[in-house]
Amino acid sequence: MNTIKIFCPATIANLSCGFDVLGLCLETAGDEMIIRKSSEKGIRITKIIGADLPMETEKNVAGVAALAMLEKVETDFGFEIEIYKNIKAGSGIGSSAASSAGAVFGINELLGRPFTRKELVLFAMQGEKLASGNAHADNVAPALLGGFTLVRSTNPLDIIKIKSPSELYATVVHPQIELRTSDARSVLKQTVSLTSAITQWGNVGGLIAGLYTEDYELIGRSLHDEIIEPLRSVLIPGFDLIKQTALDNGALGSGISGSGPSIFALSKGKKAAEKIAKAMSQIYKNMDLPYEIHVSKINDEGIKVVI
Ligand code: HSE
Repeated sequence: MNTIKIFCPATIANLSCGFDVLGLCLETAGDEMIIRKSSEKGIRITKIIGADLPMETEKNVAGVAALAMLEKVETDFGFEIEIYKNIKAGSGIGSSAASSAGAVFGINELLGRPFTRKELVLFAMQGEKLASGNAHADNVAPALLGGFTLVRSTNPLDIIKIKSPSELYATVVHPQIELRTSDARSVLKQTVSLTSAITQWGNVGGLIAGLYTEDYELIGRSLHDEIIEPLRSVLIPGFDLIKQTALDNGALGSGISGSGPSIFALSKGKKAAEKIAKAMSQIYKNMDLPYEIHVSKINDEGIKVVI
């Protein structure tokens, strides 16, 4: 195999209580990439459609992730990467993660899979470091592994994949403003009170237990964030109203998707997710703010090869 075309899914990181450790993979939103072997050694980005991103390998998240991988495996050929972006940069649904994870996944396939999907997370994290200044894994892990992922530790890497409850759906609305992850991280405090930490780790445990036992009510009760959301939500137009509207329309829970500005809601069943999408859309219509909306089942597979 000399060429591969792949679908690189969008992801929702944090999931309210799990800043930098929890994430899920979406099915209906994502980029595509074509990666081919070339006789010239090294990595070249040969095409980017749909976004204004750097073509230089060392300045592109896909390029940097791929270079990190090639440091660990000997090849006497190189790779060309074409990126077809649908996920907007600064949207909060893992745009840089889709490119970073896609590059290493595609190259790994062309090399005959010397690395497991879990091992690829470490390389993809280098792309995240370039994008936000911080090598967080809570978008690249669900992009590569699918389902829900818990990043118990990044050093050493310890990632647990959790299969999604079968009826769980996500609704994600993206108000069309760009919020850079680095900016959304700069508003955070470096210390938290013990009281807040207790509430937060109670909720993380509750969410994980809810996912394993398919207890939708417990999942909903655990989707709270009293550490990050109060600091970041002020950067997102209409956040409080959108969240309340999602809850009023049957969402199990709702919060900031990744570092924002997208807002997510989880619900039981597609009908509920669509009802929430309609209600969220109406809020931004009333505010005259352009938006994109996605309703998606949880993607249990992660990145996949497109035939
Ligand atoms: N955990 C990261 C953050 C995710 O919230 O900054 C960025 O998508």
